[in-house]
Amino acid sequence: MVVSISSICLTAVGLSSLSGLAAAQHIISAAQKGAQCCNLLTKAFPSKVAQNGTTAYTTEDQNFWSTSEWLSPSCIFEPTQAKDVAKAVKLFADNECEFAIRGGGHSAVPGAANIDDGILITFTNMKNVSIHTDKEGAQFVSVQPGAVWGDVYAYCDQYSVVPMCGRYYPVGTGLALGAGFSFLSNENGFAVDNVKTYEVILADGTILEASQTSHPDLFRSLKGGGNNFGVVTRYDLYLYQGGPVVGGQIQTPENQTEKWLDLTYDYSVRQAVVDVKTHALPAILYLGDTDEVLTSTPVYYNAHNSSALPPIMAGWYNMTASSDTVRQASYAALAKEFNANQGDGSFQEQRTYTITANREEYARVWYSFLEWGRSIENVTGLTLLHCNMPLTPRMMEAGVEKGSNSLGLAGTDDVLSILYFGLTLETYNETIVNSFNSIFATLQEESKSRGLLNPYIMWNYAGLGQEVFPSYGYSSLGFMKKVSKRYDPKGVFQRLVPGGFKLN
Ligand SMILES: Cc1cc2nc3c(=O)[nH]c(=O)nc-3n(C[C@H](O)[C@H](O)[C@H](O)COP(=O)(O)OP(=O)(O)OC[C@H]3O[C@@H](n4cnc5c(N)ncnc54)[C@H](O)[C@@H]3O)c2cc1C
Ligand SMILES: *[C@@H]1O[C@H](CO)[C@@H](O)[C@H](O)[C@H]1NC(C)=O
Ligand SMILES: *[C@@H]1O[C@H](CO)[C@@H](O)[C@H](O)[C@H]1NC(C)=O
Ligand SMILES: *[C@@H]1O[C@H](CO)[C@@H](O)[C@H](O)[C@H]1NC(C)=O
Ligand SMILES: *[C@@H]1O[C@H](CO)[C@@H](O)[C@H](O)[C@H]1NC(C)=O
Ligand SMILES: *[C@@H]1O[C@H](CO)[C@@H](O)[C@H](O)[C@H]1NC(C)=O
Ligand SMILES: *[C@@H]1O[C@H](CO)[C@@H](O)[C@H](O)[C@H]1NC(C)=O
Ligand SMILES: *[C@@H]1O[C@H](CO)[C@@H](O)[C@H](O)[C@H]1NC(C)=O
Repeated sequence: MVVSISSICLTAVGLSSLSGLAAAQHIISAAQKGAQCCNLLTKAFPSKVAQNGTTAYTTEDQNFWSTSEWLSPSCIFEPTQAKDVAKAVKLFADNECEFAIRGGGHSAVPGAANIDDGILITFTNMKNVSIHTDKEGAQFVSVQPGAVWGDVYAYCDQYSVVPMCGRYYPVGTGLALGAGFSFLSNENGFAVDNVKTYEVILADGTILEASQTSHPDLFRSLKGGGNNFGVVTRYDLYLYQGGPVVGGQIQTPENQTEKWLDLTYDYSVRQAVVDVKTHALPAILYLGDTDEVLTSTPVYYNAHNSSALPPIMAGWYNMTASSDTVRQASYAALAKEFNANQGDGSFQEQRTYTITANREEYARVWYSFLEWGRSIENVTGLTLLHCNMPLTPRMMEAGVEKGSNSLGLAGTDDVLSILYFGLTLETYNETIVNSFNSIFATLQEESKSRGLLNPYIMWNYAGLGQEVFPSYGYSSLGFMKKVSKRYDPKGVFQRLVPGGFKLN
């Protein structure tokens, strides 16, 4: 029997039988396994692997929105083309190597896009954005997975076109594997519904294109399925008429909260439904350091060359604003402005649930969440962020004609409200995080007892442990599991990519 030198545990166990070898392979530590995998990877790609201790490694390892994602990968793979990714994924599958996949690194779920003792794949060298024309003469934009949405806006702004993508500059392409709210969602649905083609690397290293006409089962599953089916190496996105448009941010002090709640409700059930070019992202914050509450709402009118909000949005001026930046601007400039207070380097936690739009419930939820925040004393840097985003029937239907998605929402007649709860701390504090999880559970339970809870949990805003895929419904989840078996029979993306929301 040949015993490899690397099976160093064998001597410790002191067995030479076959079962002893199997046991030995089991007890090889995760760190040793990771190091072995990195050796294999480095042999295959001598110039594309960043090793522990180098500047490249540290920069990549900390290139995340939340510090909860700063982990200790065994090494970091920086491919430059889809073929590199294909070869590497095959190598990982053949050798049972664990890995993580990072897009823009904006998930707040610890371990979603980084890993301890495994390989982190980043797309720092795959950030290209280019516009093409298909056979029918329609333009689309091809985006490599390392580009951030701000780069995409900046490129598309030059041609006065815009795809459906994230609203904040440094957020990444992973958004288009979850659901994805965009500036034009009231008209066109989720970001996933506006993907024309995903180029994806399967577990066996096959490169294929998933679209309405090519592997439509995989196409549908990727739209909501996150990192469960493969590594996406290119997103082709439909384009719409773009900017400049009118947009900006309206902020108010705490004494405008009731008006803000009125407007959030009016926007959800009326503005967003009646005029699909409207957009708002109603947000309210609590800043623990100063005990201050402020509302802060990006508002838009997505009509090319628009220079003022339309009359249906006039209510946003009913509040007494402390600041108002609404003007004509490019999408890239607006995406940059909104991100100004969302920099990297803090500890972030988030949670979400969905209710039927209801003005009283909006108030109950916010005031309870605020009361919880105010009960926490003497923790510097504590910030709560609460957003309330509508899901209109039109948005939920928009995906059907473009190949459908996995979200299980089509056929809902009510306007739904996606409620977002964010917690920011300078550093991790277990007591506060546990308490945050428990206030969240209480809020959700109370919405349920009032008959207002909708089962949908939006992938993009969900937190660790939330049951995203079961929330799509039994039939959708069953379909996704079948598709996973079909394209990844060995379960590589279930077993070897442990981070993020998993099907199994
Ligand atoms: C400041 C801020 C603003 C936001 N704005 C919006 C918004 O306007 N609309 C909205 O819907 N959401 C928004 N989000 C939420 C956002 O959709 C999620 O955070 C999303 O995960 C970001 O994608 P990413 O590529 O940056 O994340 P990452 O953390 O890099 O990845 C998220 C998940 O996707 C997987 N993944 C990423 N790339 C690939 C790939 N190429 N192949 C396979 N799997 C991959 C990762 O493994 C990981 O599990 C925002 C978040 C923040 C922090
Ligand atoms: C990286 O190097 C540091 C310092 O030598 C060490 O403490 C750490 O365990 C290493 N991490 C990995 C994943 O090998
Ligand atoms: C990258 O994008 C530019 C346009 O932005 C395009 O000209 C070029 O061909 C693209 N390169 C690759 C490798 O896709
Ligand atoms: C609301 O609060 C602001 C700032 O604290 C204050 O200037 C303003 O007078 C208040 N308005 C009302 C109607 O109380
Ligand atoms: C938008 O405004 C620019 C500059 O004034 C003008 O050139 C362009 O034709 C306008 N576009 C439309 C569709 O009106
Ligand atoms: C805005 O204020 C006007 C005048 O007070 C009122 O008629 C209207 O209903 C308000 N709109 C909203 C959306 O609050
Ligand atoms: C918070 O700090 C204040 C002033 O420093 C102090 O009086 C108070 O007791 C502290 N509260 C708690 C709960 O530690
Ligand atoms: C964590 O937060 C609690 C308040 O909930 C505070 O009492 C404690 O000092 C904090 N711990 C650290 C390490 O900051």
